[in-house]
Amino acid sequence: MTIGDRIRRRWPKDWPLQAIAPVAWAGQRPTYRDAQPAIINAALDRSQRRPTGNWYVFAASRDVATGRPLGARVAGVELVAWRDQHRRLRVGPRSCPHLGADLATAVVHRGALICRWHGLCLDGDGDEFRWKTLPAHDDGVLAWVRMDGVGGEPPLDQPVITARPAGDSLHAVASLTGACEPSDIIANRLDPWHGGWFHPYSFTRLEVLTTPSEEADRFLVAVTFSVGRLGVPTVAEFTSPEARTVLMRIVDGEGTGSVVETHATPIGLGSDGRPRTAVIEAVVAHSERTGFRRARYGAPLISPLMRFAAARLWRDDLAYAERRYRLRAGTR
Ligand code: FES
Ligand SMILES: [Fe+2]
Repeated sequence: MTIGDRIRRRWPKDWPLQAIAPVAWAGQRPTYRDAQPAIINAALDRSQRRPTGNWYVFAASRDVATGRPLGARVAGVELVAWRDQHRRLRVGPRSCPHLGADLATAVVHRGALICRWHGLCLDGDGDEFRWKTLPAHDDGVLAWVRMDGVGGEPPLDQPVITARPAGDSLHAVASLTGACEPSDIIANRLDPWHGGWFHPYSFTRLEVLTTPSEEADRFLVAVTFSVGRLGVPTVAEFTSPEARTVLMRIVDGEGTGSVVETHATPIGLGSDGRPRTAVIEAVVAHSERTGFRRARYGAPLISPLMRFAAARLWRDDLAYAERRYRLRAGTR
């Protein structure tokens, strides 16, 4: 018996971190027979038919600070977001209706934007140039805008947001941009079988327990999150509550109730003529452990760590999605 084996045998079974026996990458069981394109495509088809109500995530809530406008781009439309006197999220066209100054450089004064070029004051409530704000929603973690002209679906009053863990939780939001369309991001997340092979540094012992069907449209996946030689065994559920979102929820094991929301937002075309999509991912972590409650006070420290740990995962998943787009578009 090796020292590693001895440690693993003596490791308390109820600790969240379990010592895991290393598996050689090439020694894993291949998953390509299970990862049937028909299953992934059918799940993607159902996802793409789900209403979004024309809502788009465009930033983390905290990125829209009080007193400073934020520029954004959604589906080729330039936007400016800011907070009014009640800290409510406001979103409008980024060009000043007078001569087109960039309103992301405007000054926020008494909850309105004042254009830096000639002092036009814009609050979106029917000014002389009829510059109008768009419906906006701040869910406490993410900032959303509704663009009916772009989405073309029947509008919904609020975005489709599934329940997040209540009580003690930590959240972090990260975003990345890729040369692909939102459906490529969703398709990547609806292929759980690539986890152990493509992200061996993050996942091990991955087993897809159930695949989605019309009746129960979810993947149930047993997976161990690797932390070096240690691992956190969990069972995760993957669903797509609306066409541009995939939700991973931990349903068993450490952090039960924690969610990772992946939102894919079309930005518009890049200078190369190919589409760009922002992947905005929110991790809302929850744990019943008392240590976690204490750690909550270290949130400013822990949140960047949560972002950093996942950076490689996101880059690799983006490469998968971009590759999928190039194959679909027939370009190299
Ligand atoms: S361009 Fe904004 S006030 Fe003139
Ligand atoms: Fe992945």
